[in-house]
Amino acid sequence: MKILVTGALGHIGSAFIRYLPGVMPDAEIMMLDNMLVQRYCSLMNLPDEGKYQFYEKDILKDDITEYIKKSDVVVHLAAITDAASSFEKQKEVEAVNLEATKLIANCCKENKTKLIFLSTTSVYGTQKEEVDENCSEEDLSPQSPYAKAKYDSEIYLKNLDGLEFVTLRFGTIFGTSVGMRFHTAVNKFCWQACMGIPLSVWKTALDQHRPYLDLQDGVRALVFVLEKNIFDREIYNVLTLNATVRDIVDNIKKYRPNTEVDLVDAKIMNQLSYYVKFDKFQNLGFEFKGNLDQAIKETTALFSSINNRGNDA
Ligand SMILES: NC(=O)c1ccc[n+]([C@@H]2O[C@H](COP(=O)([O-])OP(=O)(O)OC[C@H]3O[C@@H](n4cnc5c(N)ncnc54)[C@H](O)[C@@H]3O)[C@@H](O)[C@H]2O)c1
Repeated sequence: MKILVTGALGHIGSAFIRYLPGVMPDAEIMMLDNMLVQRYCSLMNLPDEGKYQFYEKDILKDDITEYIKKSDVVVHLAAITDAASSFEKQKEVEAVNLEATKLIANCCKENKTKLIFLSTTSVYGTQKEEVDENCSEEDLSPQSPYAKAKYDSEIYLKNLDGLEFVTLRFGTIFGTSVGMRFHTAVNKFCWQACMGIPLSVWKTALDQHRPYLDLQDGVRALVFVLEKNIFDREIYNVLTLNATVRDIVDNIKKYRPNTEVDLVDAKIMNQLSYYVKFDKFQNLGFEFKGNLDQAIKETTALFSSINNRGNDA
């Protein structure tokens, strides 16, 4: 199988490209990234058994048709991913996250290439306590330009007859990878705790439940879709657990006991607590195995030599 991975050097991509050769040894892995966030490290020390090629290309500005033509499946990860800062760069986010996704989808359709589209559980800007993939449109009210572009992409794909695709709404990723980033909740808090910075927690969020996904579950879910050939034009929520910020902070304190919390105002005020159901994906036979505590342990351990408070564990 020839697999084109856009955004291959990112937090998720760098884990996925390393995981693939072990489980799909024959896979030809075509990695594409525009180096937006300069993660050269993601290309270093890749497993010897992997069949890799790398293309430094931009999904919006470059013509990537030839790479899509050559591939059986596109795993489309490339995006501008910082939801909080997406308010300041709405046009850019819409261009890369929506318009380029349309280009890729059209090209996949034309060339009969299958597509895995990475969306986000942030599309639920809901007043409901519990949400699933059957939510009506009024329960889907994305709270940031980032989430809006993902939502609009979902609709575009749904209306594109003839395209073989699946949409995976990933929960917020936690866990380590070579190309990992620290702008999402769990990793950001781990970083702040390790640097001796009080955790900046949105006032509205402390006891609200939100969906989170262990990175290992995320890459296993991508492989699961490839192996089981799940290109049924459906949407699936993919998450390991629903947790509160308090749950996360309590876990971090196990490893950095002197962690302090600062309650701050947020631009993304998505109201009430909600649980995201994920049994639709489980019912396909997928087992979520991730562990928040273990991932936080591993993430804080990355900075074990740094002890800005002097007396942490
Ligand atoms: N990390 C999460 O919590 C999370 C949750 C839900 C969904 N997702 C989605 O999963 C995908 C991967 O997320 P991630 O956390 O690995 O993000 P990331 O920001 O770490 O990686 C994105 C990669 O895309 C590349 N990229 C950006 N613009 C590009 C362009 N125009 N052309 C080519 N490459 C480009 C970047 O250089 C980067 O390597 C994204 O689509 C994201 O929206 C992520």
